Amino acid sequence: MKGTGMCVETIRWKNGNVELVDQRLLPARLRYVRCGTLKDIYEAITKMKVRGAPAIGVAGAYGVYLGVRGSKASSGEGFLKDVKKAVAELAGSRPTARNLFWALERMERVAVRNSGRGVGTIKKMLLKEAHDILREDDRICRALGRNGAVLIRRGSTLLTHCNAGGLATASYGTALGVMYSSKGRIKKVYVDETRPVLQGARLTAWELTSAGIPAVLITDNMAASVMATGEIDAVIVGADRIAANGDTANKIGTYNLAVLCAYHKVPFYVAAPASTFDLSTRTGRGIKIEQRHPDEVRKICGKHISVPGIDVHNPSFDVTPAKLITAIITELGLIKRPDAEKIKRTLAAGREKKPGKA
Ligand code: MRU
Repeated sequence: MKGTGMCVETIRWKNGNVELVDQRLLPARLRYVRCGTLKDIYEAITKMKVRGAPAIGVAGAYGVYLGVRGSKASSGEGFLKDVKKAVAELAGSRPTARNLFWALERMERVAVRNSGRGVGTIKKMLLKEAHDILREDDRICRALGRNGAVLIRRGSTLLTHCNAGGLATASYGTALGVMYSSKGRIKKVYVDETRPVLQGARLTAWELTSAGIPAVLITDNMAASVMATGEIDAVIVGADRIAANGDTANKIGTYNLAVLCAYHKVPFYVAAPASTFDLSTRTGRGIKIEQRHPDEVRKICGKHISVPGIDVHNPSFDVTPAKLITAIITELGLIKRPDAEKIKRTLAAGREKKPGKA
């Protein structure tokens, strides 16, 4: 399968519908699925046709619009009820990625702020807000990529987990965005396959090779021995939710890598936009971790690999304590050795500044 270069258009608005790359089919096929209703978006998120925290956020925003565009409400107040219902429905799709809730809150705020206006006007404003969220995502990821690129020395060998690339965002990526922004300086990237859903093997391997960045696929249990060779200069991963103190939820297996990095004295970087931070959750203990279907573990590519019906533990994410994180790379700048105070300061300063200028 030939890739698309450095940018994938993961989500687009076309002829009154949302189109999403169906990520379950990659790398064999690059195909878009059309979503014309809230139900389509909900299903795309739960079945992981679209996945990755920022991409889920963008899809959720459009989901709200699609959920209310046919609303028969005649008053702003009645329409607001429909918006709240759509928001509540989409909020039930996946619990961990903060970006989904951030986007849903943004959509609801637009409806609340404009509830005194005509229903047609509010509908238009909701669609505009979803378009803005999509466009901003690209600008934010590029700023984040530039900020992270200063950490990458010439000839670096990196390691990443899951997929925090263009496919996990609107188009450019976070952890992979840093790699795209420092492409000429990267010798190679080790890619964890990322059991059970194989986002590393299927998606990151595809993105990096498409972008011309040398990628080496390893199974998750090989990371320790690769690190022991002294070859890895840094690990860069994405994030689904970052608590106020910097504890970070990301794809299951991320915590293993952070522990390995501490032991081998390798920098461990988390790349995430401001919309991934959840200041209302004090520490990682308060982050809700999604449990997914046992068949994801029992099967590989639809085929049973164990005793059918075996009990399974399948948390989709784990939490890396802030003290294991060398820096969080954001569009607002780097937060080195993150703690509650530095995070609060960076996000507050970011509200007054343009992304990338921090
Ligand atoms: O279950 P997924 O594939 O949605 O999990 C994705 C991840 O864990 C990513 O690392 C995270 O969302 C960051 S994406 C920029």
